[in-house]
Amino acid sequence: MINNIKNIVEDIAAYLLNNALAHRYDICTCKICQADMLGLILTKIPPRYIPVDDAALPTLIKEAKIQLHNEINLTINTAIELVAKNPNHAVSDDRKKSFDLLLNKIFLERRLDLKHYRQEILKRKLATRINANNLTSYAEYLNFLNKNPLEYDKLFETLCINVSEFFRDPEVWVTAKYLFESLIRKKAEKGETDIRIWSAGCANGEEPYSIAITLKEILQENTSKFHISIFGTDIDKKCLTDALLAQYTKEQLKNINEKNLNKYFITPNNQKFKLKQELVNMVKFQYFELSSDKFITDVDVIFCRNVFIYFSRDMQEKILSNFYNALKPQGYLLMGKVETIALDSKESFKVIDAEAHIYQKN
Ligand SMILES: C[S@@+](CC[C@H](N)C(=O)[O-])C[C@H]1O[C@@H](n2cnc3c(N)ncnc32)[C@H](O)[C@@H]1O
Repeated sequence: MINNIKNIVEDIAAYLLNNALAHRYDICTCKICQADMLGLILTKIPPRYIPVDDAALPTLIKEAKIQLHNEINLTINTAIELVAKNPNHAVSDDRKKSFDLLLNKIFLERRLDLKHYRQEILKRKLATRINANNLTSYAEYLNFLNKNPLEYDKLFETLCINVSEFFRDPEVWVTAKYLFESLIRKKAEKGETDIRIWSAGCANGEEPYSIAITLKEILQENTSKFHISIFGTDIDKKCLTDALLAQYTKEQLKNINEKNLNKYFITPNNQKFKLKQELVNMVKFQYFELSSDKFITDVDVIFCRNVFIYFSRDMQEKILSNFYNALKPQGYLLMGKVETIALDSKESFKVIDAEAHIYQKN
């Protein structure tokens, strides 16, 4: 009789475990560990026997899969983490090592510090790229990046670094607003009226328009007393065209409160919010290749956030030196939250806010 029945929980748990492990390049998934994980899951879920010669077997399995899915999934992660932390065989730390090496490599090449990313999200996204390239480990992916630098772009796309939004990293804008206020105060004291701000790598205009809104919030009816030039530059011509249209989804505006949404945007009739023309007019958009020898001159503040990742280290140095020359004395440079500037450049720039990655020209 015992040969004619089977514990359906075992099959379903093995299947779900297999799925859960498909993207785990960070832990050991050898047969011993998988068996231990399965064993742990089976101690938590009571067995459910079904007769194997029942004609309704496929239907029974289907129904059991639906019923047991959530219950088994709840136990899977705990089982995986327990065994991963304490595998029942000699430990090899190769996976951890190659993961660290991979992050180190990305940092050295692009100065993108992925240690600040939420690790479980990062691992899932890295797994997407590892799978897409038919590779099976972090070590192979590291090798692949070495030979195919274009893969960096795909990785950044997957990490969503190449998208933008209004007031991205809102806490940075708290400091940015403070910087603008002090800049304006000093200018007013000296009787200067020119304010020049450069958003280098401005995507669809979210960043330069966030600058425009911040200045407008500070200056209110005094805005016209200053001659404000906000430059939004990019190499993506489609982005520049869209920036001029200034229409955005609610998602891109999620960091703007309801009051300012009503104040600065026209309520949509096509799901998109249109920035009021007065704000659009504050920004001059232009095509600009950052790796060229040119730069915009006499700027008070440069925003260059989430752009440096596109450049090699040498090019990053060159662009930083251009930024140094572009800035007025004591001008500010704002970099992305996950970007750092090279050590050498720290002689030219001092750190104003390490958390927000804000620097000042020395
Ligand atoms: C991720 S977006 C950053 C947008 C915005 N700065 C932010 O942080 O949300 C990067 C932008 O840099 C632009 N970019 C990439 N390479 C560039 C280059 N060589 N010169 C100028 N812009 C570049 C891209 O077209 C893209 O719009």
